[in-house]
Amino acid sequence: MLFPDYRPRRLRQSDALRRMVRETVLNVNDFVLPLFAVSGKNVKIPIPSMPGQFQLSIENLIETAQSAFSLGIPAVILFGIPDKKDALGTPAYQKDGIVQKAVKEIKKHLPDLVVITDVCLCQYTDHGHCGIVEKDVIDNDATLDLLARTALSHVQAGADMVAPSDMMDGRVAEIRNVLDENGFSPVPIMAYSAKYCSAYYGPFREAADSAPKFGDRRTYQMDPPNAVEAIREAVMDVEEGADIIMVKPALAYLDIIYRIREEIDLPVAAYNVSGEYAMVKAAQQMGWLDGQRVMLETLTAIKRAGADLILTYFATDAAKALQA
Ligand code: PBG
Ligand code: ZN
Repeated sequence: MLFPDYRPRRLRQSDALRRMVRETVLNVNDFVLPLFAVSGKNVKIPIPSMPGQFQLSIENLIETAQSAFSLGIPAVILFGIPDKKDALGTPAYQKDGIVQKAVKEIKKHLPDLVVITDVCLCQYTDHGHCGIVEKDVIDNDATLDLLARTALSHVQAGADMVAPSDMMDGRVAEIRNVLDENGFSPVPIMAYSAKYCSAYYGPFREAADSAPKFGDRRTYQMDPPNAVEAIREAVMDVEEGADIIMVKPALAYLDIIYRIREEIDLPVAAYNVSGEYAMVKAAQQMGWLDGQRVMLETLTAIKRAGADLILTYFATDAAKALQA
């Protein structure tokens, strides 16, 4: 049917009509809020490149998680900033590490909130790489055991889900095995499967003090021009036992989200990363665009592309906007 018999504008004439034919609707249940945990008492350090985001000590983490949960946000993902770092990332897998302590306290106060932990070594290694360094090369297989120990320590502290973000080959299988051997077979793994070597992580590395001290992450994170390879990464993680497949970043990789949603029969998560957040906040502060509308349009686009879950620093703002 063509014009003038068919007129697409007929169904756009009022807000109510538009709502009736809307194909994609954001829901607070889609959101996961990332939080940065630091030691200390009553610490709330603003992250300059991420307005509205903070490094939080435990009581403030609980308060922030509490307000997110009361807005209906079902989950948070925790990143730790340790006091000390070493070559082996030891503080990542200590029983009383920052994430382990934070998980325990948050779960004590908010037992129904889903607490996910990011599993990686880069915040904990003095060289800032996501794996063990051997003669300036990242040693894949030597890293696997440390990642699995980290994941296990998070789960022993009470984490509901672990999310490996290191991009070492074989880490999902290693973590799955170790969790199962220790009686944690019900705990799901959300794999950062298609994680690209992206400049959009800039603000996060400032927030988490995790920038590599030499070189870059090109030998383990994916090359941005590649899409077919993302399918292979996702399929491997499914085979290794992942429960949720993540694409990261989100906005510059909507095609990857779409393709993975088509190919993989597991929930797909997308990480709306720090640089995506910072760009919107910066332009809004300059008065160059309507930050609220751009936020909702962006999150809707990520969902329209096929994401079932969205990890986003906008979670609280978006949840409030959806209530209004
Ligand atoms: C650590 C990690 C990073 C992010 C999540 N986990 C940074 C990196 O890989 O350098 C990025 C998150 C963001 O930019 O919001 N492996
Ligand atoms: Zn890392």
